[in-house]
Amino acid sequence: MSDTPEPEPSPKPQPSGESADLTGTTAPGRGAAGPAPAADLQHLYQELAQTNVRLEEEAQRRTIALATAAHRLKTPLAIISGYIELLLSQKAGTLVERQIEILEDTQENCARLQRFIQDFLTYSALETGSVAIQAELGDLNACLAEVYELWLPRFQKKGVALYLTAGTRLDPFKFDSFKIEEVVSNLLDNSLKFTPGGGSVWLSAERHFWDRRGGHDIRAPIERRKLNSSTPNSVKVTVADTGPGIEPEFHQEIFQDFFRIPGASESSEGTGLGLAIARRLVQAHSGKIWVESEPGSGSRVSFLLPLEPPARESTGTS
Ligand SMILES: Nc1ncnc2c1ncn2[C@@H]1O[C@H](COP(=O)(O)OP(=O)(O)O)[C@@H](O)[C@H]1O
Ligand SMILES: [Mg+2]
Repeated sequence: MSDTPEPEPSPKPQPSGESADLTGTTAPGRGAAGPAPAADLQHLYQELAQTNVRLEEEAQRRTIALATAAHRLKTPLAIISGYIELLLSQKAGTLVERQIEILEDTQENCARLQRFIQDFLTYSALETGSVAIQAELGDLNACLAEVYELWLPRFQKKGVALYLTAGTRLDPFKFDSFKIEEVVSNLLDNSLKFTPGGGSVWLSAERHFWDRRGGHDIRAPIERRKLNSSTPNSVKVTVADTGPGIEPEFHQEIFQDFFRIPGASESSEGTGLGLAIARRLVQAHSGKIWVESEPGSGSRVSFLLPLEPPARESTGTS
């Protein structure tokens, strides 16, 4: 979306007659006459807040418009796919080798487009807040086993070994199994895509103590002191691979919308939305996601799901 022109903030005349400097390079309202009165700063602050709300609304409208367009593409694409399948089945007439090749290529491109549309629809639904987390008591190991079974044939086809090492018994806790399956699928998709044949990928889950005191632990201090630091309060899920690894400078950016590492991802298919979607879904569970990696040493993407969501955080999307 970098080609969208940035709306300019509307500068307001300052008491000194200058325009407000919203870049922060000079102190706003500070002229030869000294600091601006508190009322002026208050006014400037309100104006910035209004501009911010307006920009957010515009971004939402754009996302909804693009999602509507993407949604409309779904039906014709499904019809095209159906016809390709029919032709390939040769029920509508016998095909020569070259025709089969062309149709198979078209089918693959249709599937790519369908994946892109699906990613974009999920992203825009999360972005516009129309996705609700349906957290129910569940067995995370069973959820991971399902995703593992689903992905195993694709790994076998490429010659990449896939291991499920979810050996630890996990007590049932509340999470949205469809959304967590989607998160894990996005991570496995990356590991499969970036790991060359002959490599390995491990999917694992373990109990984990998540010390949120430095972050946004909203429990009362007395309650926190009672918490034994050895008591696991979350589950950590990790997808580790023997792929090319990721430069530390990109460890944050790969979770941003539409971000793909320049150069590294160009030869592979993708939208740059998989990890951004995963981040939103994990955050909607009050969890967090991160990567540990060095170029040449593979990647480990992990996420934490709290066994009990912090009381003041809603279970909706963030
Ligand atoms: N396991 C991995 N190994 C190497 N690079 C990765 C891995 N996972 C993610 N990346 C990098 O992060 C980028 C963003 O990932 P993602 O959001 O899933 O987008 P996409 O898969 O569509 O490229 C990828 O394009 C790739 O450059
Ligand atoms: Mg991806």
